[in-house]
Amino acid sequence: MLLSKKNARVFFFGGTIVTFAVFIVMSVQTLVKEVPVKTHEENLSKEVIAGKKLWEANNCMGCHTIMGEGAYYAPELTKVYERRGEGYIKAVLQSSVPWSPRGRKMVAYNFSDREAEDMIAFFKWIGEIDLNGFPPKPEYKINKNTK
Ligand code: HEC
Repeated sequence: MLLSKKNARVFFFGGTIVTFAVFIVMSVQTLVKEVPVKTHEENLSKEVIAGKKLWEANNCMGCHTIMGEGAYYAPELTKVYERRGEGYIKAVLQSSVPWSPRGRKMVAYNFSDREAEDMIAFFKWIGEIDLNGFPPKPEYKINKNTK
């Protein structure tokens, strides 16, 4: 038998309210419980925060991405700390000529030691966030014939 009009209304509003309540509870749980753990909130030092401010003030996102956010002109930097290490990153940031071993030009920021170290602290913190495997590691196919 079909639902009466009244029952259909109860069914509709009841279902909407219940699923909305579940959505709110799950969102709060993610923000309050999971995000601080996955981002290692306890490691948000003064240096990391200063690095984040440098990141914003210098428009690094105009060319780079972090967690896929930004522009696609220059390398993805989520895992740059692991990929390049401190010495390399410092050299890039303190270079007085545009860093460009692969052709495209990075801005010559000429950062001070303090600024470069803050930026590196920010990259280290970003690199340690649990991103469920992002960015994926490429699978290189080794051609056995050319070995
Ligand atoms: C005008 C575009 C542009 C802007 C703005 C820019 N970069 Fe770059 N950056 C590049 C390019 C292009 C490269 C790659 C150069 C190469 O390896 O030949 C690069 C390389 C780097 C690297 C080394 C990455 C790697 O995997 O080798 C780091 C670290 C970096 N940039 C950090 C920054 C930071 C921090 C900022 C902001 C303060 C910034 N960049 C702003 C273009 C830019």
